[in-house]
Amino acid sequence: MNLKNYTVVATGKIRPCAYEKLKNMVNLLDWQQGGRMPKEELEARLAQADAVYSAGNVRFTQELLAKAPKLKVIAQAMVGYDNVDLAAMAERNVLLGNTPGVLVDAVADLAYGLLLDCARRITQGDAHVKAGLWGQRKPFGLTSDLAGKTLGIIGMGDIGCEIAIRAQASKLKVIYHNRRQREDDEKRQVRYVSQEELLAQADFVMLAVNLNPSTKHLLNAAAFAQMKPGACLINISRGAVVDTEAMYEALKSGRLAYAAMDVTDPEPLPGEHKLLTLPNVTVTPHMASATAETRDAMAMLTVENIVAALEGRAMPAEVKTK
Ligand code: DGY
Repeated sequence: MNLKNYTVVATGKIRPCAYEKLKNMVNLLDWQQGGRMPKEELEARLAQADAVYSAGNVRFTQELLAKAPKLKVIAQAMVGYDNVDLAAMAERNVLLGNTPGVLVDAVADLAYGLLLDCARRITQGDAHVKAGLWGQRKPFGLTSDLAGKTLGIIGMGDIGCEIAIRAQASKLKVIYHNRRQREDDEKRQVRYVSQEELLAQADFVMLAVNLNPSTKHLLNAAAFAQMKPGACLINISRGAVVDTEAMYEALKSGRLAYAAMDVTDPEPLPGEHKLLTLPNVTVTPHMASATAETRDAMAMLTVENIVAALEGRAMPAEVKTK
């Protein structure tokens, strides 16, 4: 099928492997210079769009979708879709694609790295040395073991399960909470608990849940008060799953011993944000899926989603909007 009559609007830079493939197949309006495309430019391009390659966090609101009268599909080069108004997509019959699966290992690896950092304070140790304090024989202090402690994972999907495997290699016990209990707890050697029980028992709480209206501010002041005193928090889901102000207070008071997060609210986190004045925080710039191999795989899957949708076939990774 010749797809050259279809216009695909890219909202950000596409990985070279996927760019070449897409450019050869469709009429591609690209944005390979990187950075954020100005709003007026995006709106003008959307007027011609049969499909959107969504890279970078564009908010697809009802208002923005109205600028794209011919639109058939938005394929996002990411797994999350909290930036998309699902009801507006359903109303317009626009398909939505994402990239589950291919990023699971990369995200689980970074989550495990942040978990290790909470327990062993790797980034603090690095800062200590770089500040010359080791040379001055200033003590760094003791950190804590992982073995025998409890990791509580909120959101036990594919990523949560891979985090559990890595944590079990460090001899952590794993408990989890989901909307529904999984059917493979015995095989995975994990235990399903209520959210209250998880917060009360976990030494490390890991957020791996989608952001949606029911998970926004899941960890608020009341939830922090339910957590085991001195517990640590790791967030690799979305910043808004946590009430930032409540987390700041919990970290300041020491109720929460440490927080390591790849996602923040607001995002990006301004360099002068008060969270960054705290000593017991590690923040990485939403980079969990940012390995060359994983980003290539995400980009290729995004192209496959677009091509399938334009050809009228089932997309390899479709998000149900209805
Ligand atoms: C995703 O794919 O949703 C990751 O958070 C990267 O944006």
